[in-house]
Parts: sequence; structure tokens; C-alpha cells
Amino acid sequence: MNVKLAYYSKTGHSRKIAEAVGKALSIKPLNIEDNPSVFGADLLFIVGGIYNGLSASEMIRFGEKLKPAMAQRVAIITSSAFRKDTQNRLSMILKSNYIEVLGECMVRGAFTVISMGHPNNQDYSTAIDFAKKTMEELEGTSASDDEERGE
Ligand SMILES: Cc1cc2nc3c(=O)[nH]c(=O)nc-3n(C[C@H](O)[C@H](O)[C@H](O)COP(=O)(O)O)c2cc1C
Repeated sequence: MNVKLAYYSKTGHSRKIAEAVGKALSIKPLNIEDNPSVFGADLLFIVGGIYNGLSASEMIRFGEKLKPAMAQRVAIITSSAFRKDTQNRLSMILKSNYIEVLGECMVRGAFTVISMGHPNNQDYSTAIDFAKKTMEELEGTSASDDEERGE
């Protein structure tokens, strides 16, 4: 399975989370600001923060350019101070581009004194566990599809 990982990070939390997930899965984190190529991904993890209740515009523009030939499926990892607002707009854009969205994992970031000290090791583990589980479920699905086809 071709798995890729892209992140957008204004203040560094999502970069650190992406690096932790990348290390755990042996995937190189790609910075969305470098306009990375993600052609041919069966699964793309997108990691990013929430700013004033919304996804970053850079993240939205990246999502708008994605096509199924670049990434068939996306799983989102969101870092935010309150873990309340989601990357809902990004999900909608991806779905309208015919990309399957497998889910969103909420990880604690920080904002001034709110949630200070996050993301911490527990937060990195939350993101890594989500990424591993997403991959396992996908591998399970494709194995049972193969069985059904008698492959
Ligand atoms: C300008 C700004 C606005 C933010 N607005 C929110 C917000 O509305 N809700 C929230 O939960 N966190 C908010 N945060 C906290 C960020 O979502 C959190 O720190 C996240 O981990 C940032 O990711 P990054 O370091 O990768 O940029 C905001 C942070 C900044 C810098």
C-alpha cells in the first residue's frame, strides 16, 4: 500500500505530530508549503491545525488540488487547543473531488496558555495509533476484497 503524509503547520505542532507519525510508519512527512507531489497514494494522511475555528487556507488550497489519481483516500489528523472544531470544510472539498475521507483524529495542540505543553507524548501516541488503525482497517478491507475475488 502506498501511504503518504502531508502537513501544514503555522506554529510547529502539526509538523511535530507529522514527524512522530512519519517516524512510526517510516514515511517522510511532506510540507504542504513545499507544494509536494502525492501522486499515486492509496492513502494520504493530512495533518494540520485549526485557526479561528477553521482549517488553514493553505490546507484548503492543497485539498482543492487533490484528485483520486493523487490520493484515493485521505485520513485527517487535526491539532487544536480545544479539540472541538474539525477540518469539515477540507473533508467536504475532498469528497466533492471523489476522494474517500476515512476519518479525522483530534489531537491536542496549544494556543497561548490554553493546553500549554501540548502536543506531548500522549498526543503523538494518539495520532500514531489512529494512523496505524486506519492502515490496518484498510489492509483488512483490501484483503477481504481479494478473497471475494478469489485472489
Ligand atoms: C492564530 C491562531 C488561531 C487559533 N484558533 C484556534 C481555534 O479557533 N480553536 C482551537 O481549538 N485552537 C486554535 N488555535 C490553536 C491551534 O489550533 C493549535 O495550536 C494547533 O496545534 C496549531 O497547529 P500548528 O502548530 O501546526 O500550526 C489557534 C492558534 C493560532 C496560532
